[in-house]
Amino acid sequence: MASVTVPDRDRAVCVVGAGYVGIVTAAGLASLGRDVRIVEIDAARWAAIAAGRAPIHEPGLDAALAEQLRAGRLRLATDLADGLRGAGIAVVAVGTPPTAEGDADLAHVRTAVAGIAVAAEPGTVVVIKSTVPPGTVAALARSIGPRLPVVMCPEFLREGSALHDLHHPARLVVGGDDPDSLGRVAGLFAELGGELIVTDATSAELIKYGTNAFLALKISFINEIAELCELTGGNVDAVAHGMGLDPRVGRAFLNAGLGFGGSCFPKDVRALEATAGYHGQSFWMLKAAIEVNAQQRRRFVNKIRLALGGSVSGRRIAVLGLAFKPGTDDLRQAPALDIIRHLEDQHAQVVATDPAALERARPLLPATELVADAMACVAGADAVVLVTEWDEFRSLDWARVAESMAGNLVVDGRNCLDGERLAALGLRYRSVGRPPIDPLPLPLAAEA
Ligand code: UDX
Repeated sequence: MASVTVPDRDRAVCVVGAGYVGIVTAAGLASLGRDVRIVEIDAARWAAIAAGRAPIHEPGLDAALAEQLRAGRLRLATDLADGLRGAGIAVVAVGTPPTAEGDADLAHVRTAVAGIAVAAEPGTVVVIKSTVPPGTVAALARSIGPRLPVVMCPEFLREGSALHDLHHPARLVVGGDDPDSLGRVAGLFAELGGELIVTDATSAELIKYGTNAFLALKISFINEIAELCELTGGNVDAVAHGMGLDPRVGRAFLNAGLGFGGSCFPKDVRALEATAGYHGQSFWMLKAAIEVNAQQRRRFVNKIRLALGGSVSGRRIAVLGLAFKPGTDDLRQAPALDIIRHLEDQHAQVVATDPAALERARPLLPATELVADAMACVAGADAVVLVTEWDEFRSLDWARVAESMAGNLVVDGRNCLDGERLAALGLRYRSVGRPPIDPLPLPLAAEA
């Protein structure tokens, strides 16, 4: 850990927004001994934090939050003025959801920055953690004027391992044009480590979008390779392994499956594509990544349909996993939602389960039977479909699953089950980009 001296004033930090990024950043800064105040306008989130609970499902966060609240290093502010009193740094971590056109909706960022501009003391550094399109921070800085410097400092936290990522960053990016405030923001996070990149605000914004978009491209690319594997008889596991051993390619984010979901990749790829469009650029690779990702979900439903003999109508299909990835209850752009809706449109009878996202899913899937217990989910199913690779599903007692199903089809959307083992239990195994595995035919009765 780098040793840094933080000026007294910068020890007090006001974090605006207690969503995924804000609450994790706030808890992390408090654990470094900062005096953190969190400003949240959403009543439900506010109440959760006031009761000492995290407003989202994130491993370790409940405990971290409770510890920092108890120690008095983190507190809920009553409003912006309260949160900003004596603070040297204001961190904006509000959402930038997609608009109907696909670009980032900056309304919350603008509201937060306008409020800070009124309430903050001169010299307070405004740190933008929200993901905003290139040019946004420069425009905000122009609108506020020199009284409050603005610095772009993107986050790279993954849901499900956000606290770990916060404490083990690969890099710390600060972008702006005032060297003093860039240094102050670097000092805020420097103890956490990671290579420091000091640049202009627009480049910092593009580092964030470029990273997410590139990772999304990798995923869509391997999913296209997976399709080609299915068409030609290859195995995407071997291909990804072989490709990934080339250090110029790298194995990370080459897991074929149901593609990317969540709050970042789908939204950021579309927003970057929209930004390029506004500047007259057709960013074809991003358009392709988005289309391949949508297609991947349709291909998967098709695979289930074909494996069930050409129709899912009236068939009972058990879906394991609703959250967009394990370790979270986040359903934003979750493949499960599209897949279940496609199946239900084709008159399948869907029953689904998830260790964390069940309650959030209820209003989104009114026609779906949602059950808490995975064994109850698979009972009587014609097909079991794995959509989210939770450990709970990998380690199911698959012999019992095989016994309690009505049919014998398992379709693994995340390539995370042992197909040979399932086939030995009498199950037909289908996955993504790998050859199908069927149970061995029963030995012929010995001749008398
Ligand atoms: C991502 C970025 O990783 C993080 O740096 C950024 O701050 C926010 O967006 P997150 O959305 O939490 O984080 O999840 P991540 O683990 O990156 O996965 C994104 C999606 O891609 C998930 O839907 C995941 O299932 C999918 N994925 C990931 C694949 O389909 N294949 C892979 O090889 C990797």
